Parts: sequence; C-alpha cells; structure tokens
Amino acid sequence: MKKRIGILTSGGDCPGLNATIRGVAKALYQRMGDSVEIIGIANGYSGLINGEWRVMQPHEFSGILTVGGTILGTKRTPFKLMRVIGEDKVDKVAAMKKNYAEMKLDCLLTLGGNGTHKTANLLSEEGLNIIGLPKTIDNDIYGTDVTFGFHTAVDIATDVIDRIHTTAGSHSRVMVVEIMGNKAGWLTLYAGIAGGADIILIPELPYSIDNVCRAVEARGKEGKNFSIVAVAEGVYDTVEARMKKKERAAKRTEAGEITATSRIARQIEEKTGLETRVCVPGHMQRGGSPSAYDRVLATQFGVHAAKLVEAEQYGVTVAMKNRRTTENVLSEIAGKSRLVPPDHAMLSVARRMGICLG
Ligand code: F6P
Repeated sequence: MKKRIGILTSGGDCPGLNATIRGVAKALYQRMGDSVEIIGIANGYSGLINGEWRVMQPHEFSGILTVGGTILGTKRTPFKLMRVIGEDKVDKVAAMKKNYAEMKLDCLLTLGGNGTHKTANLLSEEGLNIIGLPKTIDNDIYGTDVTFGFHTAVDIATDVIDRIHTTAGSHSRVMVVEIMGNKAGWLTLYAGIAGGADIILIPELPYSIDNVCRAVEARGKEGKNFSIVAVAEGVYDTVEARMKKKERAAKRTEAGEITATSRIARQIEEKTGLETRVCVPGHMQRGGSPSAYDRVLATQFGVHAAKLVEAEQYGVTVAMKNRRTTENVLSEIAGKSRLVPPDHAMLSVARRMGICLG
C-alpha cells in the first residue's frame, strides 16, 4: 500500500514555501520511491474544506527551489471561524475530516504560521495525523529559533533601507520606512540594524514621539542632514499602550490616522520642522526568490519533515533549536507566539550603537 501524504500552504505566502515543499518531496521519493504519493491541496485550509486537491507527480517538485510564493496557492482561513458555521452552512471541521478520509491520507503536512498551527492543532485533536512546518517573515513562531521566509524578508527590507539612505541624504529628509510585522518586531529590528537605521520602532516597545524627535534633532546637531526611521507596522506609542486594542483603533480612526507610520511621519515633520516622507515596501517583503539562507533552511526543514513522515511521528511541528533541526509537540506551541523579549541581546546591541528605540 502506498503512503499518501497531503500537503498544504496556509496564511500569508513567503519566500521558501516551494523550497520546503521540494525538500519534503525529494526526501520522501528518495527514501520511499514509488511507495509514496503526494497529494497537493490548493489554497490552504480552504482547499481542504472544499475538496480542492490532486495527486502530484515527482517532476512537479523540480525547478521550484528558487521560485517565490507557493505552487499550491494559499489563503487566510481564520482559526476563530473554523468552528463557526457561516451562511454557506458548511461545517468546516467536518468537511476537512471528510476530505482527509476521502484522500486516504496517512498524514497531512501544514506549512504556515501561528494561525495555521492553531488549526493544525485542532485537526490533530480531531484525530488527523499532522506535521507542521514553520513559515513566516515575522519569525514569531514559538519554539523555533527561526522560520523560513524571515531572512529573505530581512534582506529585502534591508535593501529598501539602503536605497532610502541615498534619497534621504540627497534631499535632507527624514524617511520613515514601514516594515511588516503587526505584533512582532523581529523583521524591523534585524533589517533596521542591517540597514543602519537611526531609529527603530517595534510593537514590543511602545515609543514616545518626543524621544523619536529628540533623536532626529540630535542627529541634526551632529551635522547629519537626514534620518532613517524603521517602523514595524504594528507599533503604538506609550499613550496607546495603556489602551485596549479596540479603544486604540477607535482613537486612530477618529484622528483620521490610517497607519502608525503616517502619524509618526506627520508628527516628526510638525515637531522638528524637517521634511519627512513615508516609504511602504509592503508585500514586496514577501515576494520573489528565497535567499540562500532560506533555501538551506527550507531544505533542512523539508528533510526533517520527511523523516517524521517515515517515523510516523505526528502531532508535531518542525523547528530549529540551537542550529539543530528538531520538532515540537504541536499542542505545546499552538496559540503561543514568540515576540522580541525586552532583554533581547539585539536590543542591547542597538542601544549601544546609539540607535533610538523610541
Ligand atoms: O504574517 C505575515 C504578514 O506579512 C505580516 O507581517 C503582515 O502584517 C501580514 O502578513 C499582512 O497580511 P496580508 O497579506 O493578509 O495583507
């Protein structure tokens, strides 16, 4: 009997998804040859719910190492709605279980971030055999030192900050660069340091706009004619830090502020009198080919997942700890995220470099 392995990618895409899919597939075919069959499920859990799947051929996993995005397609299907029956009257959990059985799967590989892992855990609790793989440019998955996609996004965001330097210098401007990351500041912190940002603002450390402006003005006094501010999209100031999420959102809407970044730029211009511009690279940070680092990591993760398939070790997620690939128990990490801790060494590096953290 052939082993049937389902695979899906869920949540936001990122570079390295295809490299991981390839890693799993090649390692499985290498060890198990014709006795394994891989079933590709389209568009994440949505495809699992709606029965969008097909048996894939070995050649489909060739030539995808360097390709960005995901050959399977992806979608956000929020975990909180999984048990909610909507207008379409579909019981999503029952549908996923039914399709898993119809595909005659021995196990399902779920490539995704925190939301994906929560649903993966739900399915595991419902009796499905699950192996998760940690993907996200946010690098915020609990229990792994790194996720694939993160380092490529750091490279892209760093390139943006590099390029912003020359235009900021030419125009004597303050440039505020918005970097992805709603809850976690890893990407902004790493790209900010790699790109030589003067001010780095992350969601884990509420900022004071006066501190930000003081840092900008101090650079002016040192004879520097520009400043670069790297801002994570989910930042908030020390006043907002005391508010509940809803209150914060209401206050921003009332003030007509669409993003924290645009507000920061406006306030810097008002308070310092310096010409200020915003740059939002947005989804470009998730696009294109994975970096060499991510290709290696994705391949390591894929091979580890293939080992878990062979060992029939389910209810786990692949992880990297102290430079070794390993796994976590899915139920122990699902629902937890990994934010930048206030005592993280990289924050201390930034402070010692004179970078303002807000
Ligand atoms: O989780 C990855 C991420 O890129 C976040 O950094 C960002 O806040 C979010 O996804 C954007 O989501 P979407 O692609 O749905 O706009």
